[in-house]
Amino acid sequence: MEHQKTPMLELRDIHKSFGDVEVLKGISAEIDKGELLTFVGPSGCGKTTLLRIVGGFTPLNSGQVILDGEDIGALPPNMRNTKMVFQSYALFPHMTVAKNIGFGLKLKKWPRNKIDSRVEELLSLVHMEGLGDRTIDRISGGQQQRVALARALALEPKVLLLDEPLSNLDANLRVVMREEIRNIQERIGITTIFVTHDQYEAMSISDRLLVLNDGVIQQIGSPVEIYEQPANEFIAGFVGYVNFLEGKIESIDKEMKIKYVSTAYGNLELNHNQGDDEQKYDEILLVIRPETLSLSADQAGKQANTFHGVIESFMYAGSLVKYTVKVEDREMIVDQYNPKDATKFQRGDKITITVPRTTHALKK
Ligand SMILES: Nc1ncnc2c1ncn2[C@@H]1O[C@H](COP(=O)(O)OP(=O)(O)OP(=O)(O)O)[C@@H](O)[C@H]1O
Ligand SMILES: [Mg+2]
Repeated sequence: MEHQKTPMLELRDIHKSFGDVEVLKGISAEIDKGELLTFVGPSGCGKTTLLRIVGGFTPLNSGQVILDGEDIGALPPNMRNTKMVFQSYALFPHMTVAKNIGFGLKLKKWPRNKIDSRVEELLSLVHMEGLGDRTIDRISGGQQQRVALARALALEPKVLLLDEPLSNLDANLRVVMREEIRNIQERIGITTIFVTHDQYEAMSISDRLLVLNDGVIQQIGSPVEIYEQPANEFIAGFVGYVNFLEGKIESIDKEMKIKYVSTAYGNLELNHNQGDDEQKYDEILLVIRPETLSLSADQAGKQANTFHGVIESFMYAGSLVKYTVKVEDREMIVDQYNPKDATKFQRGDKITITVPRTTHALKK
């Protein structure tokens, strides 16, 4: 579903310290209505802290949290119209599924029959029809996750906050529940912040990722932007393997939209996109993904955008062959997908690597 481009939530210059350690050093972001944004980054980078600040569970030092146009920074959690699902789920173990889901509605003094029908609706939303009378200690971990989600959605919060919601589940169930959460989120169009330290989980579930490290936002972008146009070396190395290669821009042909780059292994002609902030003689770092490289049998002459190398080793993995290629004093990893002839290249073969013109360049 296309989300509307109206910010539902705005974070403005949020700072947070614990003692003299500054954990968040000025975080600003907008989250669109209906969007699923993921906070992702290494352990201890402040993801939970930022989520708790949005939910009202942790006070901020300075900055603003604006929900649907209203500054909610001073409101307690229950007055915010946000709902947080904690990593532990925090369900009441001896109560039934239905009582857990309806708990907040009862607090709001909803009449019994309205609670019952809303609970039925939510049970069906999370695919738990007929399990309302079970107690929490008699359902599985994945089902507990569903109940926690249903309970959080009961009062239709404007923003749903999920802190590592899948971390208690085993690997297979994580994938199933990840798809389920995404499905439900899109179906009801609820604005959601999802926290995870797992890059692949973040890539696969999100409209956009907010990557945190060292207390600052490293990049906000769609999974494709994060992968194909990383803003810096940290982001480039964040998902998947990268062959980093240093280069220097020798000249730029703005009309042809080409930059001419020298490297230790040969010269490259790469795309110079309009708006790229690149200058002649800039030192750059090329972000070369293994699957963008192609291999061919050694050619005597030097063709454009090629390096010469020798196959050092290879690993056949069904849908791809992963080659380690020695290019002078370094190794490059080359992934050949859909290999028609898996034994095409052998150890010691002389080959040519072709680097695509679309290779992404970072300024050093
Ligand atoms: N209540 C607190 N008092 C003091 N320090 C805290 C407190 N809560 C968090 N911190 C510290 O703030 C930093 C960020 O913690 P936070 O829990 O936000 O990290 P995280 O990104 O969620 O990590 P993880 O992936 O491990 O859950 C950590 O260094 C943590 O030790
Ligand atoms: Mg955390």
